[in-house]
Amino acid sequence: PMKPVQVKLVLLGEAAVGKSSLVLRFVNNEFQENKEPTIGAAFLTQKTRVEDKIIKFEIWDTAGQERFHSLAPMYYRNAQAAIVVYDVTRAASLDKAKSWVKELQRQANPNIVIALAGNKVDLVSDEDDDLHPDELDGDEEANEDGDDMPITRQVPAEEARAYADESGLLFFETSAKLGHGVQEVFNEIARKIPID
Ligand code: GTP
Ligand code: MG
Repeated sequence: PMKPVQVKLVLLGEAAVGKSSLVLRFVNNEFQENKEPTIGAAFLTQKTRVEDKIIKFEIWDTAGQERFHSLAPMYYRNAQAAIVVYDVTRAASLDKAKSWVKELQRQANPNIVIALAGNKVDLVSDEDDDLHPDELDGDEEANEDGDDMPITRQVPAEEARAYADESGLLFFETSAKLGHGVQEVFNEIARKIPID
């Protein structure tokens, strides 16, 4: 059997978008409804097979809270791959994702493979595609105490995909909760990593 190829991968994105949950799904095939925020960063490894090669991902799961931002360069330095995560129900989290992508494109390894992941699609899986955009704005106060308020998508998949295409990123929508798209993100990255 061949020696696994080690690939250093970093996850970046706003707090609570589901970075740790994506890793937990990929590594242990588990999900926790009330996952605690990451402090600093967490390190995990997982192997995956691509064609005739075994890839061993060395995963740095960073903390999204703003007070940890300055630590990020330690984790993306020398990374061969990054997954930048946003939450499809929160448009502001895509803005934050874009700013991480800019930072990576300026400061990280120029050959880094970047995937953009729009997470929590399970929350909008019964969405009505015919809704008018104005209706999605709604009354934010009404959302605060009601579990009965439907959660609406704030980032259309086509909008995020167009941004990903023009920026040279892989693009996926995912649900760490249901496992949707998770293996695919890591496998696509593994396929794109230049290996000699
Ligand atoms: P930080 O470590 O603070 O940066 O947050 P994070 O990006 O690691 O988010 P985390 O994985 O801790 O998830 C935040 C919350 O969202 C938790 O309560 C998760 O259970 C929930 N969550 C994560 N992924 C999903 C998902 O795909 N669907 C749903 N419905 N909830 C999710
Ligand atoms: Mg986390």
